[in-house]
Amino acid sequence: MNEQISRRLALAERVAREAGAKALDYFNRRESLVIETKRDAQDVVSIADREVELLIRGQIAQAFPDDGFLGEEFGLQPGNSGYHWVVDPIDGTSPFVNGMPNWCVSIAVIYQGEPVIGVIMAPCQQECFVAAQGAGATLNGKPLHVDPARTLQNHITGFGANSYVAPERVGEIAAEITAVGGNFFRNGSGAMMLAWVAAGRLVGYYEPYMHAWDCLAGYCLVNEAGGWTHPFNAQGEQLLRGAPVLAVAPGAKDELMRIARL
Ligand code: IPD
Ligand code: CA
Ligand code: CA
Repeated sequence: MNEQISRRLALAERVAREAGAKALDYFNRRESLVIETKRDAQDVVSIADREVELLIRGQIAQAFPDDGFLGEEFGLQPGNSGYHWVVDPIDGTSPFVNGMPNWCVSIAVIYQGEPVIGVIMAPCQQECFVAAQGAGATLNGKPLHVDPARTLQNHITGFGANSYVAPERVGEIAAEITAVGGNFFRNGSGAMMLAWVAAGRLVGYYEPYMHAWDCLAGYCLVNEAGGWTHPFNAQGEQLLRGAPVLAVAPGAKDELMRIARL
């Protein structure tokens, strides 16, 4: 791993843990949070999302002032170092505000459009997933490897959808996973489910439309654990656009790609 990446990796993990602790503090007193909505009544946000993103932004700006930064809540801050941080302060806000433990802090660093660092911190489980390009993926320090013997038939497939996706399509995806003898799972945090693909808890994850901050940290984890990820165009303006997200163990790739029509 080159020094540029290793310095950022150390910071990414430290900041993810600190951000996770801050988010957990809000979670533990969530009755006092004012819940606001964004695109629709399912798309929720609170001060917790904003404050956690500001904490992360502040620390990155201090350590790497020339790096770019994209966060879900406060948007894009361009940089000129070639490195770009892509952050979802709380992925799984709906579980978060409703008192479920399935949420996480997701921090990616991209270089030349590729995710080179992925850190996903899940505070309720005290699980920290860490990956860097060429250096493997770990969960709380233990190496992660996807199992090539797993398929849609002998494992579970994660799948998510939001209001960008036609309701008929949501039903079709569930039906097609079931029709091939598989089963589907959703916990409300796409980033966490991607980390779970890296950890072998799910054979794959598919969601028709997600943003860079939802998927790039998870993509780095899955790639480093030996899985495959559908390319997400993170170059220039494309970084802000939504796209299909698919990450999968090699034994289920062809079948999940067919179901996803990719
Ligand atoms: C959402 C979650 C959800 C996925 C949505 C995302 P948020 O992110 O990852 O599982 O289905 O597409 O937008 O809003 O909780 O950060
Ligand atoms: Ca998200
Ligand atoms: Ca979010």
